[in-house]
Amino acid sequence: MSNGGHVWWEDAIVYEVYPRSFADADGDGVGDLPGLRSRLGYLADLGVDAVWLTPFYPSPLADGGYDVSDYRAVDPRLGTMADFDGLVKDAAAHQIRVIVDLVPNHCSSAHPLFRAALAAAPGSPERARFVFRGGPEYGHGPGGDQPPNNWESQFGGSAWTRVTDADGRPGQWYLHLYDSGQPDWDWRNPDVPALFQDVIRFWLDRGVAGLRVDVAHGIYKDPDLPDIEDLLPLNAPSPYRHLPELHQLYRTWRAILDSYPAEGFPGARTAIGEVWYDSPATLAPYLAPGGLPQVFNFQLILPGWSAAAYRDAIDSALALTSGSRAPWVIGNHDVPRPASRYRLDEGYTPQTIDHLIALGDQNAETGARRARAVALILLALPGSAYIYQGEELGLPEVTDIPAAARQDPRFRRTHGASPGRDGCRVPLPWARTGTGHGFSRTIGNGSPADPWLPQPADWGRYSVESQLADEHSFLHLYRAALRLRRDHPALGRGTLRWLGPDLCFARDPGFILAANLGPAPMPLPAHREILLASGPVTGGSLPPDTAVWLSA
Ligand code: GLC
Repeated sequence: MSNGGHVWWEDAIVYEVYPRSFADADGDGVGDLPGLRSRLGYLADLGVDAVWLTPFYPSPLADGGYDVSDYRAVDPRLGTMADFDGLVKDAAAHQIRVIVDLVPNHCSSAHPLFRAALAAAPGSPERARFVFRGGPEYGHGPGGDQPPNNWESQFGGSAWTRVTDADGRPGQWYLHLYDSGQPDWDWRNPDVPALFQDVIRFWLDRGVAGLRVDVAHGIYKDPDLPDIEDLLPLNAPSPYRHLPELHQLYRTWRAILDSYPAEGFPGARTAIGEVWYDSPATLAPYLAPGGLPQVFNFQLILPGWSAAAYRDAIDSALALTSGSRAPWVIGNHDVPRPASRYRLDEGYTPQTIDHLIALGDQNAETGARRARAVALILLALPGSAYIYQGEELGLPEVTDIPAAARQDPRFRRTHGASPGRDGCRVPLPWARTGTGHGFSRTIGNGSPADPWLPQPADWGRYSVESQLADEHSFLHLYRAALRLRRDHPALGRGTLRWLGPDLCFARDPGFILAANLGPAPMPLPAHREILLASGPVTGGSLPPDTAVWLSA
C-alpha cells in the first residue's frame, strides 16, 4: 500500500515463512502451501504486510529446498501452482503481499541443465553453464588428481566434487560453494543471466511483490579461481564474494522490477539481497542507486547483551542507510532462535549453537525476557523489519534433535561436528496437544504423520492456542506492538534521536523507546504514558532485560 506517497516496502513488516515447517494441510508431517493458505487469518491478525516464502520449488532437499531442480514449479509435496496462485490471491484479500526466494548462485544437481552438463563432454556448451575444471586428462595438480583450488564449501569439506565419466573413469570437478547437491552456475555464461531473467518475470507475472535473493554476494566468481589464504573475513576481498560484476547484474534486475508498476506507483516490487558481512560498510555498493531496492541488515543479530553494543549496531547500520533500504532482522532460518541466543551474554558467532547445547536448559527465563525486550526494540526502529516464523511465539532453539533426525547438510558435511540449523526449523506448534501440536491437520479419522523434524515434548506451551489464551504471552505482545506500530504516526519509516547514554531513543511525534539491557533497574525517561511494556514495570524504573514504548 502506498502510505502518503511512499512505497509499501519502506516500512513493511515481512514475515518469513519456512513452508515445510509452518502448517501442514494434508497430514503428511510436512508443511505445504495449502497449510499456509489456511493460516492467512493468523498472519492478518498478527498484522504483517507481507510474507517471504523460502524455497517451495521441486528439490531433492539436499539443503532444505535451496537446491532447486525446477525454478518455475511447486514441489508436489508442498502443493500445486494452483495452490500458489490461490495463496497470492487470498493473501491479497488479507492485505498481505508475497515475496519468493530466488536462488541464483546454484541449482540442484538434479536440475535438467546440470544433468545435461554431466552427460556432455568436457569443454561442451552444456558444461560451460557451470564451473567445471580439471581432471587427469586436463592436467590439474601434480598427479592430476587434486581439486582445482583450495576453496571450502560453506557447509564443510571441499567446494569441489569430482564426476565420474561414462567410461567409469574419474572426470572433471565442479564447483559448489554449498553442498555437492548444489552446483554453482557460471554467471559469465550468457545463458545463465537469460535463464534467471525469465524466472524473475515468471514469478512477477504471477503477482509476487518481491524476491529475496539468496547468496546475493556470491554469484560471480573470479574466473581465475585463485586459491585463498585461510578463512577470509566475510567482507575481505575474495574471489567469490562482493565482485563488482554483481552490481551491473542487479541494475538489470532492478529495471525488470521497475517495469512492473503495480497499483499505479513505481517501486511496487522489491528485491532484497542476502549479503553476509562483518561490517555494514560492505553493504554500501549494494545500496548504490539503481541496484537492488533492499539488502538485509544483520546488525541486530550480532551484538552481545549490552546497551552499548546495541547502540553501536543500530548506529553503524543507520550511518550507512535507512532501515527502509536495509530492513532489520533478529533471526532467520539460518541462525539459532533469538529467545535462546539471549540466554548467553555473547553476540552471535558460528559457535553460538555449540554454546547453547552446552548450556542445556539454563537461563531460559532470561532468554525469553530479553527476546520480548528485543522485539520492542526491533519494531520501534525506523524502516522495515523481518520476523521469522515462531519469533512471535518466543520459540526456543531445539538443541536436542537426535542425530538420525537431523537434515541440515552442515551436520552431514562436518560429520556431526556442527549440529547445523535444524533447531530453528522445527515445525510450529498450533495446538496444546496432539500429534505435531496441531501442525498437521487430521485427514478423515486418521491421525497425521509425525512432523518431519521432531518437536520437543513441551512444545504445546508455546502453541498459538496456549498463547491466545494468555494475555501476557509473546503472541499478544507482538500483536499489540504491530497494531501500535501501524497506528502511531512516529513509527515505521523515518529517523530516531538518542536520549542520553542508555538504549533510549525518541521518534517524532511523541514516541520514546526505552530498553534496559543492564543488570540494575534504570530510571524511565520523562513521559506521559506507557504504551506497551515487554514485562512488568512498576514505579518510575525499568527492570533489567525490559523495554517499553512510551508516549512523550
Ligand atoms: C542462504 C540460505 C541458506 C542456504 C544457503 C545456500 O544462506 O539462507 O539457508 O543454505 O543460502 O542456498
